[in-house]
Amino acid sequence: MIESWLECIRCNKKYDLEEVRYNCTCGGTLDMRRDLSAVDGRELKQLWEDRWGTKRGIYASGVWRYKELIFDCDESCIVTRQEGNTRLYEAGKAGEYAGLKNFLLKHEGENPTGSFKDRGMTCGVSAAKFYNADSVACASTGNTSASMSSYAAIAGMRSVIFIPEGKIAYGKLAQALAFGGKTLQIAGNFDDAMELVQEVCRELNIYLVNSINPFRIEGQKAIGFEVVQQLDWKVPDWFVIPGGNLGNNSALSKGMQELYELGIIDRIPRIAVIQAAGSAPLSRMWKEGSKFEPVKDPETIATAIKIGNPVSWEKSLRGIKWSNGIVEDVTEQEIMDAKAMVDAAGIGAEPASCCSVAGAKKLVEAGVIKPDETVVGILTGNILKDPDAVIGYHKDELGSMGIKGNYANAPLLIEASVEAVRKALS
Ligand code: F0G
Repeated sequence: MIESWLECIRCNKKYDLEEVRYNCTCGGTLDMRRDLSAVDGRELKQLWEDRWGTKRGIYASGVWRYKELIFDCDESCIVTRQEGNTRLYEAGKAGEYAGLKNFLLKHEGENPTGSFKDRGMTCGVSAAKFYNADSVACASTGNTSASMSSYAAIAGMRSVIFIPEGKIAYGKLAQALAFGGKTLQIAGNFDDAMELVQEVCRELNIYLVNSINPFRIEGQKAIGFEVVQQLDWKVPDWFVIPGGNLGNNSALSKGMQELYELGIIDRIPRIAVIQAAGSAPLSRMWKEGSKFEPVKDPETIATAIKIGNPVSWEKSLRGIKWSNGIVEDVTEQEIMDAKAMVDAAGIGAEPASCCSVAGAKKLVEAGVIKPDETVVGILTGNILKDPDAVIGYHKDELGSMGIKGNYANAPLLIEASVEAVRKALS
């Protein structure tokens, strides 16, 4: 087994894996680090190739396929739903819309609970088992709670969810309730819920599986691993990815860095993180060159990323700089128009996911991404997570949020006659 430990990203203090920790004593977030000196990159790549297409068992998972760089724990700890193995689509109409010739969309909404969170959660809940925890908790804008409650149900653990009251998409709330998560709606936003859950986990000895948990980040690295494996280990010029609590892009860059250090990839992809303009503390910091300042009252129709005080902003920034990347933000209209294109391309995704496409378009227009570069956009969640946003757009009923149904495909109310149908189709 590969020797691993936790290490503070600010002061480099090391902690043994046996100890449950989410933060350093200095307040910095923790990375999982491992001794790769004895690992042969070529052999590892071959091992992962041999596991591709495995039908049963842990290596049928698109996360545990890469176990050596995820969490090299005893197999008995692993709680899996064969997550990952998601498709990499040609973007079609969404590519034309973004002005890109080689635009691919990695659909993480095809995971078992409909979002990329399952990749992190299989690892987070396996870590809970490793630590003999009987309860797990998270604050969530919806997808993390849907995922956690599912994995906890499989592991036979209690799950406790903190969600901002009335502010999460219905599909996600429905999943959390259905999977049996104890759901606590708090009077406040996601940032308030995040603060509270950390305190509760400390006081009540519950295992925290938000992306501040370093094991979550390790699992989510597999998105990038799987993309490069699907591309026969060729690296795209760009990854474009939405940013909310900023764990997912931190995972992507960390994974790419590890592959690069092992010689499994020979080039560093650039990473563009896209935030919703009303919830964009990292983008503001990036553009203004200022200190990190949380956004007090974050707003966006992309409720998944309605986050003003992301816990992983330092990790995120570190990775973006390493990749020579960029941070951008997009308006509500840009998000929903891009979503209409992703949906009309026959692929479909929830609003936050479509920041990838809206952001790619904006960066092409700005001349940052070249039209013939190979770009992989990450679609983070399934179209059915948030039906209200879809129907609202297509019925052009989002005026109060300043959003027009520019590409609306409104349902028509007609009489039950052939003549009326003929008229409607003409
Ligand atoms: N896209 C979707 C669909 C999400 O659910 C999230 C985060 C993100 C993007 C942003 O990823 O936070 O790693 O930068 N959702 C979290 C949740 C916060 O609670 O489900 P991030």
